[in-house]
Amino acid sequence: MKKIAVVTGATRGIGLAISQKLSQDGFFIVGISRADNQEANDSWVNSLSNDCRLFKCDVTSLLAVEEVIAKISELEGSVHLLVNNAGITSDSFFHKMSLESWKSVIDTNLNSLFYITQPIYKIMKENGGGKIINISSVNGQKGQAGQVNYSSSKAGVHGFTMALAQEGARSNILVNTISPGYTNTEMMKNIRVDILQGIKDNIPLGRLAEPKEIANVASFLASDCCSYITGANIPVNGGLFIG
Ligand code: CAA
Repeated sequence: MKKIAVVTGATRGIGLAISQKLSQDGFFIVGISRADNQEANDSWVNSLSNDCRLFKCDVTSLLAVEEVIAKISELEGSVHLLVNNAGITSDSFFHKMSLESWKSVIDTNLNSLFYITQPIYKIMKENGGGKIINISSVNGQKGQAGQVNYSSSKAGVHGFTMALAQEGARSNILVNTISPGYTNTEMMKNIRVDILQGIKDNIPLGRLAEPKEIANVASFLASDCCSYITGANIPVNGGLFIG
């Protein structure tokens, strides 16, 4: 019986590293990606160690998510794991932040968790258990100037985790958050070079995280070794925030 892991935002950055690591661990990865880039999609499939499927879906659209869930339900195997990883930034100081910027970040980073998690959570309940990993951020824990939208969404992600962990426990569904620090992905290209240097100077370990370092933690949380952790927020931030 295939063990299916659904990963959102699967084709790049942290989502790509998590897909690759969980595939090595033996999961059948169902990647969800908004991108319509055939080359990137083919390269995602080729970089995985096991059978996998990639579905195009905008996680901010309830209709699109429902269509993908129907396709997942038709696959052979059962959904053991959901990794809610899709996320965006749209940084600006609050006094200049547009409503559109606020809404797009909350929609992608937080509302999507409702759309995609609810049907998968119901499947897990029927199956007798499962695991959900939500990717938040150090900036959801400490706040970050220029990111009122993003920090709010990512703090909300862990609120979601803590509440659902309490509900899911009786159905053997473990729900946890990983809060990465600044990680070496394309997202970093949006930060001005001088600002990024200032950020690096403040990280006790003196460097950005590599996506693999986040994926290793996801791999542990997804594994049978992790059987008594739920509702936790695991920081992977090089010491940038020690709460
Ligand atoms: N608080 C208040 N004011 C500040 C400030 C702060 N922390 N930092 C700078 N300012 C002031 C500056 O001194 C400057 O003032 P003057 O004009 O009087 O000199 C003014 O604000 C403008 O500063 P900027 O040049 O930085 O403004 P900008 O509009 O060009 O850029 C910004 C604003 C886009 C928010 C930029 O500051 C920025 O990119 N900051 C970093 C935000 C950040 O860390 N994003 C993380 C993205 S990665 C991610 O989110 C992944 C993850 O999970 C970790």
